[in-house]
Amino acid sequence: MQQKLFIFDTTLRDGEQVPGCQLNTVEKIQVAKALEALGVDIIEAGFPVSSPGDFQSVIEISKAVTWPVICALTRAVEKDIDVAAEALRYAKHKRIHTGIGTSDEHIRYKFNSTRQEILERAAACVKYARRYVEDVEFYAEDAGRTDNEYLARVVEAVIAAGATVVNIPDTTGYCLPSEYGDKIRYLMEHVEGIDRVILSTHCHNDLGMATANTMAGILAGARQAEVTINGIGERAGNTSLEEIAMILKCHRNIPIETNINTQKIYPTSRLVSSLMNMPVQPNKAIVGRNAFAHSSGIHQDGVIKNVQTYEIINPHDVGIDDSSIVLTARSGRAALKNRLATLGVQLEGNVLDRIYDSFLQLADKKKEINDDDILILAGVDRSHNRRIQLDYLQVTSGVGVRSVASLGLNIAGEKFEAAASGNGPVDAAIKALKKIIDRQMQLKEFTIQAISKGSDDMGKVHMQVEYDKQIYYGFGANTDIIAASVEAYIDCINKFKL
Ligand code: KIV
Ligand code: ZN
Repeated sequence: MQQKLFIFDTTLRDGEQVPGCQLNTVEKIQVAKALEALGVDIIEAGFPVSSPGDFQSVIEISKAVTWPVICALTRAVEKDIDVAAEALRYAKHKRIHTGIGTSDEHIRYKFNSTRQEILERAAACVKYARRYVEDVEFYAEDAGRTDNEYLARVVEAVIAAGATVVNIPDTTGYCLPSEYGDKIRYLMEHVEGIDRVILSTHCHNDLGMATANTMAGILAGARQAEVTINGIGERAGNTSLEEIAMILKCHRNIPIETNINTQKIYPTSRLVSSLMNMPVQPNKAIVGRNAFAHSSGIHQDGVIKNVQTYEIINPHDVGIDDSSIVLTARSGRAALKNRLATLGVQLEGNVLDRIYDSFLQLADKKKEINDDDILILAGVDRSHNRRIQLDYLQVTSGVGVRSVASLGLNIAGEKFEAAASGNGPVDAAIKALKKIIDRQMQLKEFTIQAISKGSDDMGKVHMQVEYDKQIYYGFGANTDIIAASVEAYIDCINKFKL
């Protein structure tokens, strides 16, 4: 008989902790709805006490989503739990995810406490959360490095206090798959009351073992996996949702299934990548650009004879449409709308019209428009409600001459212009920008990336700017790399807390 593995998606919490990946509430709702359509069982929507933005997002996601359980993270602190319960008030199905560090490193250095005290705090926070909701998940942070015998006592205590799910995070991504699997097996065999809860995996990828560890945990008895789209998350990231879903689909001898509609994997991956400005590495399993590209002659020959020679996954099963329509300057609005829908972005009316106009402008510059281009165009539309926008930019530069830039900004409807010279075109453009916006800000990091191939390609720029002792992340995309740089700088300024 098939058993069910619950998929707990933490793209909007652990994934969103990644520097530069922050989403606004509207974007988070878009992702949450895509996760619902994908068939995710539990959506971790945020850490409400951490910021007013997170609090509001949990409220709005709770309203927007119907079927999945909405989960909010807390520390083992009563105030956190009060705030989480308040943020979850509109959720049709709700869960509080509370917990505390249980490894000796956490107990000694983070809490300056003892194992006994931490065990008591663990039970107390679960009991407190049960006052608000029936579904309480407890996490034993750094369980990966926690002594198994002590961990079993903590798990027993939180079950007795009313936990419904117990999460065993390998917070530092340290465990070997055999160790992590043994840990879950040990808990399954040594904890009284373990049959009353679901054990959950939450593995980080610091040593590249997150998916292997999650699978080891599932095979040892865990029935919930905490995952993110594209494997994004703290440091090297979390286990990828798409990898776990496809492992279980491909290995039919494992009698465990998920509720994931795998054909929605690729559109969801593209949506998250584009909204978070986080490129997917080309060789990423399942969703990378090269995941289904056969390049060597021997492989191509085999695939032409029979795809089963080198393909264990049918691209259609993950929503990759290999007969995709090529978009050019002659493509109509309907073709663009259809392609965006395949990529997980539903657009209508004025917004579609605006993006279609930008599409035509780009198509005049580029021969062929690819998926990344149109997702960026769709993303660029987010800048329409930003306060500061780039009106125009003109730069002269060359070898042996100083670069000169003049630019115009539109700040809340008012026009400003300035010119400056600099050590290179980007320096000149940013100096001109700073003449208009006169603040103590400093460029800390600047990364330029071409999206795909040709010299007519879109360039993407990621920037970090320091202002008032805080780092702000900005993003810009344009066929003109200097304009993309200025847009990224403006994106940072638009985020300043003034
Ligand atoms: O990695 C971790 O331990 C976490 C917990 C907060 C669940 O993200
Ligand atoms: Zn984590």
